[in-house]
Amino acid sequence: MTSPTIDAPEWARRRSFAIISHPDAGKTTLTETMLLAAGAIRMAGQVRARGENRRTRSDWMKIEQERGISVSASVMTFEHRGLLFNLLDTPGHEDFSEDTYRTLTAADSAIMVLDAAKGVEPRTLKLVEVCRLRDIPIVTLINKMDREALDPVDLLQDIQDKLALDAVPMQWPVGSGQRFKGVVDLVSDELVLYQRPGVEHDREAASERLSLEGPEIRELLSDAEIEEARDGAEVARELCPTFNPQSFLEGHMTPVFFGSALRGFGVRELLDGLADKIPGPAPMPVQINGQSTQVEPGDKEVSGFVFKVQANMDANHRDRVAFVRLCSGKFRRGMKLKTEGGKQLTVSSPILFFAQDREIADEAFAGDVMGVPNHGTLRVGDSLSESGKLRFSGIPNFAPEILRRARLADPLKAKHLKKALESLAEEGVTQLFRPVLGGDFIVGAVGALQIDVMRERVAAEYGLEVTFEAAPYETARWLGGTEEQIDLFADRHKSAMAVDIDGNPVFLAKSNWEVSYSQEKFPELIFHHVRERA
Ligand code: G4P
Repeated sequence: MTSPTIDAPEWARRRSFAIISHPDAGKTTLTETMLLAAGAIRMAGQVRARGENRRTRSDWMKIEQERGISVSASVMTFEHRGLLFNLLDTPGHEDFSEDTYRTLTAADSAIMVLDAAKGVEPRTLKLVEVCRLRDIPIVTLINKMDREALDPVDLLQDIQDKLALDAVPMQWPVGSGQRFKGVVDLVSDELVLYQRPGVEHDREAASERLSLEGPEIRELLSDAEIEEARDGAEVARELCPTFNPQSFLEGHMTPVFFGSALRGFGVRELLDGLADKIPGPAPMPVQINGQSTQVEPGDKEVSGFVFKVQANMDANHRDRVAFVRLCSGKFRRGMKLKTEGGKQLTVSSPILFFAQDREIADEAFAGDVMGVPNHGTLRVGDSLSESGKLRFSGIPNFAPEILRRARLADPLKAKHLKKALESLAEEGVTQLFRPVLGGDFIVGAVGALQIDVMRERVAAEYGLEVTFEAAPYETARWLGGTEEQIDLFADRHKSAMAVDIDGNPVFLAKSNWEVSYSQEKFPELIFHHVRERA
């Protein structure tokens, strides 16, 4: 794939991607090094400082409050080789939550970062599963080559075995840790030389390339090292499948790069690889008047969907910012857009985000992410379009792994609690289930931080004292099947039935075992683990 020319439509320049990784593999460091290499930030430390702030929960809340709406964190736009990259930020660490999953629905591709000493780790696996929901293409970076690494053949095999992805190296590393010399570019057959940076943050330096056959390489590498580089490249060519763009675009094959985000090594090559390989905005599945069809990025009608909502943490302002992934058309500031539910809003101050800045957008295109301030009109999963007729599906709710019963200190405030919980569930902070029997609400979350945020916000914004007690459920499943089948099941499991915020029937299960058991007893029912907003 070549970069589009100047004359290509604006949307074709967009590349929206997310980085997925297990905590500590180097996502934050890579983000920062990429922004440095692309010239979007000038100093290292900026992304990290932000990341650390977000890691301490109380600080995070305080910072959000001080800033009003902290939005710059969610998407970072930068240019490279004439393309406009939108890097969608996904929370890592302990603040891992459904946000991450939803953000992936707005990305057209993902970079998977692996720690070279560890290979595929549990969270990577889970995130790749989410990428599979839409089969988005995945580019791999094996990071931390400046430390002792696993054998590259074993690393590629690990990707193949655990993720069922064909791993195709674009480069082959020569040594690792103290012995790391760089990578052989398997296309040009040159060694991209690893130079230990003299200064701490010399991450922007262009890498030096040496021909494996030329005289210069002999001055820098021993005969044995040159031999190792040549043999390695040969093994890679013999053992690995060749890169097939179609297979990559369909999510079955991943090109693999090696580097050190911390040392700035290999990141430029990765950026070039992204510019060459990752696709622009994809057509998005949509329903129009109940008919399934696709929206093409070049379609005239402006459309998009809300994948994230962030509230103003200032209790005096109930404003929210909805993050809208545009899917088609040329958006112009001041445009009127409608939700599929018929709500209309004039988008007068749409925000675009840059690494350090944000600005009001005069126009935006498919592939862009735009922040839309609103007073609670927009919720996660909403579709927006000029006609109001388009309905995007695919914003998933995942079966919660943490379920808590909301108990009020003052039972007279039950109405307030209902409003607070519903409003926060609409924002996507947590999921909300109302049991068919009994009055308490059950809140569900994928990550523990979601519950903490809920508790703090219910107190700060609604002045309610609520305890979130352990509920006797381990997980939940959305039920699918005919009305009779669902009624029959619900009748026999009254005390375990609830409805979600959209009124869908949900089975609250005491254990995963109970889910399997129920499935055996009711084979015709579907126990959905993921629910996409219809
Ligand atoms: P994450 O966002 O995926 O959780 O990872 P992050 O970038 O925060 O990196 C986790 C740790 O790994 C950090 O060290 C970081 O400096 C280190 N790291 C990232 N990339 C590389 C690399 O290419 N080589 C080496 N050797 N280390 C790397 P830390 O000690 O936790 O933090 P810090 O004290 O360095 O800030």
